[in-house]
Amino acid sequence: MTIVTQPCTPFDDQKPGTSGLRKKTRVFMQPGYVECFVQSIFNAIGGAEGKTFVIGGDGRFFNTDAIQTLLRMAAANGAARAIVGQDGLLSTPAASNLIRKRGADGGIILSASHNPGGIDADFGMKFNTPNGGPALETVTDAIYAETQRIREYKTLRAENIELSAKGETRLGDMTVEIVDPVADYAALMEGIFDFDAIARLLESDFTMRFDAMHAVTGPYAKAILQDRLGAPDGTVLNGTPSPDFGNGHPDPNPIWAKSLVDLMMQADAPDFAAASDGDGDRNMILGRRVYVTPSDSLAVLAASAHLAPGYAQGIAGIARSMPTSAAADRVAEALGVECFETPTGWKFFGNLLDAGRVTLCGEESAGTGSDHVREKDGLWAVLLWLNILAVRGLSVREIMEDHWTTYGRNYYSRHDYEGLDAAAANDLLSDLTLELDNLAGRSFAGETVTKADRFSYHDPVDGSMSHNQGVRIHFDGGGRAVLRLSGTGTDGATLRIYLERYEPPAGDLNTDPQAALKGIAQAVAEISELAERTGRSAPDVTT
Ligand code: G1P
Ligand code: ZN
Repeated sequence: MTIVTQPCTPFDDQKPGTSGLRKKTRVFMQPGYVECFVQSIFNAIGGAEGKTFVIGGDGRFFNTDAIQTLLRMAAANGAARAIVGQDGLLSTPAASNLIRKRGADGGIILSASHNPGGIDADFGMKFNTPNGGPALETVTDAIYAETQRIREYKTLRAENIELSAKGETRLGDMTVEIVDPVADYAALMEGIFDFDAIARLLESDFTMRFDAMHAVTGPYAKAILQDRLGAPDGTVLNGTPSPDFGNGHPDPNPIWAKSLVDLMMQADAPDFAAASDGDGDRNMILGRRVYVTPSDSLAVLAASAHLAPGYAQGIAGIARSMPTSAAADRVAEALGVECFETPTGWKFFGNLLDAGRVTLCGEESAGTGSDHVREKDGLWAVLLWLNILAVRGLSVREIMEDHWTTYGRNYYSRHDYEGLDAAAANDLLSDLTLELDNLAGRSFAGETVTKADRFSYHDPVDGSMSHNQGVRIHFDGGGRAVLRLSGTGTDGATLRIYLERYEPPAGDLNTDPQAALKGIAQAVAEISELAERTGRSAPDVTT
């Protein structure tokens, strides 16, 4: 097999956002595109010579093609070993686990997470570092710099290799090891959770559903929930990964997993339901007639994590992204542990986890996880919920009510305005930024601003600073609105407005969240001239 060098034209792209490179699938399918990006990764990390990489993706359209390209290039660049999920599948948390467990030099994950898949939908590639987590800014900046000057890539003239048979093969001088994507991950889960207690719960009259949304968690959920823990067949819905996710949008929220939510809002609904996204890192939690917001879920899991054997010693601390509600902060305070507020994006949790400062972390965007890997982890969250339900013997609703009467309730909602004109969205935020100093003390729609600022983060572990991480507007009475632009969308600009209001334990804990947040939503619309600038009168997605 011969190594060949092919030309690259430097990329004219914008700097990628928080989750690696995400583009329309057809962009990735252009001849040389994947190649020049992969070569940029290898160049940025000091070459691939002698290294071991974990490679896998969420099974979306183009997954295995990109993997074949990647393998030829890894071999041509001198890599010693590639550990690949069978059929090219690895959930993001399972990839993170394999990188750590096998002491790999990194991993390349092929996914556009919860974005739709297909030739006219989205594709993505992300590099994870040896700690198992998404590359930090220094590495992503170096990759970006390489894409701006890349002139050539190296590959191997070779046939595609078989990805469906487990075991070792060779590609040039590189060993390719095809592994069961589920086995190591399932073993990790078994080490953290009380599988006996969960199995007893599932043996009782307790019923549950897990919606894999035609994405990567299907095989994981079937193996763990049905085969290991004894949940009946039919517990896992949409459990076979498909290249276009059953022509759906594999995002576990009340919009895209509506059929599951509708099922759970019926009087005779199952006791518990959950869903995960395209690559298996997000989660949605539901009980009979109750939707648990991701912010509340983080708080509940933190308060009861000690009930799972893996956290029996207690947790070191909690981290949440800035737009996530402060519900977890109250738990941290009660537990007497540290609580951190980080910018949006899982990578900001990595240093805190590596340093042992936090055990649990979460984002309002349906991401929850712990120090067991360096990615958020959908099935992990489901298993921790099940472990807690099994030990406490309460329903999901009872657990939520108990939580709110103990800590109070942080009413919370996110309003997304999608497909906006990018210039209009940027102007809205930059003009708002100029106004921030003039807002304190003024009232809008009956809500008085107490403070408004732009969020910057000082990483307490490596000392780095991240600026411009969103605008915060605080209101009298503890309300808050956050505005920021999405870094993961692929069509125009997405403006995210996060709304929060705190109700103490003695207050009204059972209002509809949109009603509870109406005043703050109106105030922020006035302050930001939302309708005038975006031409929208209502959000596209409300979660
Ligand atoms: C979104 C979420 C963010 C998450 C990221 C990757 O990013 O809001 O919490 O970390 O996806 O899953 P955004 O589009 O807001 O930049
Ligand atoms: Zn995801």
